[in-house]
Amino acid sequence: MKLRIVAIALLSIFCHNSFAQTDAATEKRIQQLIKKMTLKEKVGMLHGNSKFYTSGVKHLGIPEWALSDGPHGVRAEMNRHDWKYTGQTDDFSTCFPPGTAMAASWNLDLATQRGIVLGEEARFRKKDVLLGPGINIIRSPLCGRNFEYLSEDPFLISRLSVNYIKALQTKDVAACVKHFVANNQEDNRFVIDVNMSDRAFREIYLPGFKSSIVEAGVLSVMGAYNKFRGDYCTESNFLGRTILRNEFNFKGVYMSDWDATHSTEKAALAGLDLEMGTEKDNYNDWYFADPLIKAVTDGRIKESVVNEKVANILRVMIRTKVLDPKTRIIGSINTKEHQQAAYRSAVEAVVLLKNDKQILPLNMSALKSVAVIGDNATRKHCEGGFSSEIKALYEVTPLEAITKKYGNNIRVNFAQGYNKQSFVAERSSKGQLDTDKVDWKLIEEAVAMAKKSDVAIIFAGLNHDFDSESFDRLHMRLPYGQETLIQEVAKANPKTIVVIIAGSPLELAGIESRVPALVWGWYGGMEAGNAVVDVLSGKEFPSGKLPFTMPVTLSQSPAHALGAYPGHDLKVNYDEDILVGYRWFDTKGIQPQYPFGYGLSYTSFTIDNAATNKKMYGMDDEVTVKFNIKNTGKTDGAEVVQLYAGQTVSSVLRPKKELKAFDKIFLKPGEQKTVNLKVKIKDLAFYDEKSSKWKVEPGEFVFYVATSAQDIVSTLPVTVQ
Ligand code: BGC
Repeated sequence: MKLRIVAIALLSIFCHNSFAQTDAATEKRIQQLIKKMTLKEKVGMLHGNSKFYTSGVKHLGIPEWALSDGPHGVRAEMNRHDWKYTGQTDDFSTCFPPGTAMAASWNLDLATQRGIVLGEEARFRKKDVLLGPGINIIRSPLCGRNFEYLSEDPFLISRLSVNYIKALQTKDVAACVKHFVANNQEDNRFVIDVNMSDRAFREIYLPGFKSSIVEAGVLSVMGAYNKFRGDYCTESNFLGRTILRNEFNFKGVYMSDWDATHSTEKAALAGLDLEMGTEKDNYNDWYFADPLIKAVTDGRIKESVVNEKVANILRVMIRTKVLDPKTRIIGSINTKEHQQAAYRSAVEAVVLLKNDKQILPLNMSALKSVAVIGDNATRKHCEGGFSSEIKALYEVTPLEAITKKYGNNIRVNFAQGYNKQSFVAERSSKGQLDTDKVDWKLIEEAVAMAKKSDVAIIFAGLNHDFDSESFDRLHMRLPYGQETLIQEVAKANPKTIVVIIAGSPLELAGIESRVPALVWGWYGGMEAGNAVVDVLSGKEFPSGKLPFTMPVTLSQSPAHALGAYPGHDLKVNYDEDILVGYRWFDTKGIQPQYPFGYGLSYTSFTIDNAATNKKMYGMDDEVTVKFNIKNTGKTDGAEVVQLYAGQTVSSVLRPKKELKAFDKIFLKPGEQKTVNLKVKIKDLAFYDEKSSKWKVEPGEFVFYVATSAQDIVSTLPVTVQ
């Protein structure tokens, strides 16, 4: 009996998370509502009636629907009819580190925590749909939105977004996975026509969306601005019908990105449900407004097409209890728990790239003075980045954190070091021109501070003038003369530590060899300063791993090496095909600055006794790779163990290896754990373009137990029959 109750409970959790099975009662309720609606009322639900709301149908108890950005916090309230903030004082919220930082933690529990917090805060702010996560593949180091996205690897993206979405949606809020699909550059994003092979589409660009829909049951999907194989994404029958509805059995809402709808009939027939953000003052003029009513009355579109869209919206409303407000979660905001979650997320994102002679962690009690240098020591980043900007309740900068935690005992010598030189007045990459000036006066001040301090910490990197929606960077270098600054400070004080604050790859060769320690701190959200300072001081340990490859130069990176970015004549062909990120570096034997999955620790680990459970596998089998991991150092630590697999001989080109499983293992000094990582043989498949099916070719496969894409601990060959 007890077992049965547990089974039923588990089943209900499963059904709750999985959206495919909508129940008969819900469908009946939807149809009853639709029957009572006029065409005008129905169409009112299919387009915005302001920047972030759609109309309800009052007499049926259907309220306005409230949508809000964004992926790492609930955005401040905006005016209904323009892009200005209302300026109210009750819309501060918790700001998490953006997507790349979430991915750098490689911690699925933190993705779950984030989803829960965002869901609670969205509900408290009376939002029905939260527009995130943004899960486009990081294809070029230059993409302005890399910071908001997660990774170059579809498996890592899938695992994190599934947890995030499931957790968020338990709070009666719909997640909206975006931007479907191939919005991998911001340059020409409104018009660029992306072409890629079926294989690249299936193996690299689609998996994150597929698992978000099929596994996590995401309730809404946002169609991207760009074109895909000649059609705007929002008008592509292939994307909207063949993939979303038919293959993935998606029953939620397919909405346009803001101002990404371009037609009435074509978009409506291609499966788009909801038009948002169109830049036309009169909402009745929008494609899914009066023109849609006319298309129906003229007989160009059947009313059943409209009904289908309304049903999709009602289904999500019912699922998130919009129509049953009394039973709905009320939510909470800015709680200590939420702030703690943001802190953990920032701590676990920090990646230690270099640590010569264990200069880190700093022994704070032995220090008398520290030079804190750089614009990023004092800059707040939550409020930047365009649609994902957050009005954080507070944001702790690194300088504030150091001063507050150690200022009583240690002299903190601050120097600006470099100035943020550009201001993005217009949303284009032009704002980045002329940002390479070296300011020798600031450098001299910084050198003087470094000379008179025991250690120097430079907070360098980018800001949201570079890592931002709507344009790409022009190059991969550190702007504002920071390379010169770092070189000069390092000459003045050999104990110079560089902390990079940025959300996309940077050229590091010019500084890496000059300093003993290099740390990647990301944009750390509202707890950024506390988190990074606690890692530097050893109060916390670094446990992040790079979610993308750090190339030495831009020209190493696949799309750039092949001249396949940003495209020609508003078309871009993904010539690197499936060889994105480490798949390219590995397969071509190119040495990056730092590989995908890389990150050091303050302690040391050994991994041994790695073995597969069998040597021969059938097509329906699952491989278990088992090994022991031990913390052999003196402090607590965590290692992200990564399992890659590759096929030795294949009829098609395959990447040398691909990430198939990972886990983050926390260990006390001397502690040992046994780890089991599992991979289904069917997940070793490639997408066969000839048969349009996933295919596993029998033969030898190699499993690699690793701590980065290049740090292979154990190589385990197996045979698949
Ligand atoms: C962005 C979306 C965002 C929307 C609403 C668009 O410009 O691409 O990610 O959700 O604006 O702000």
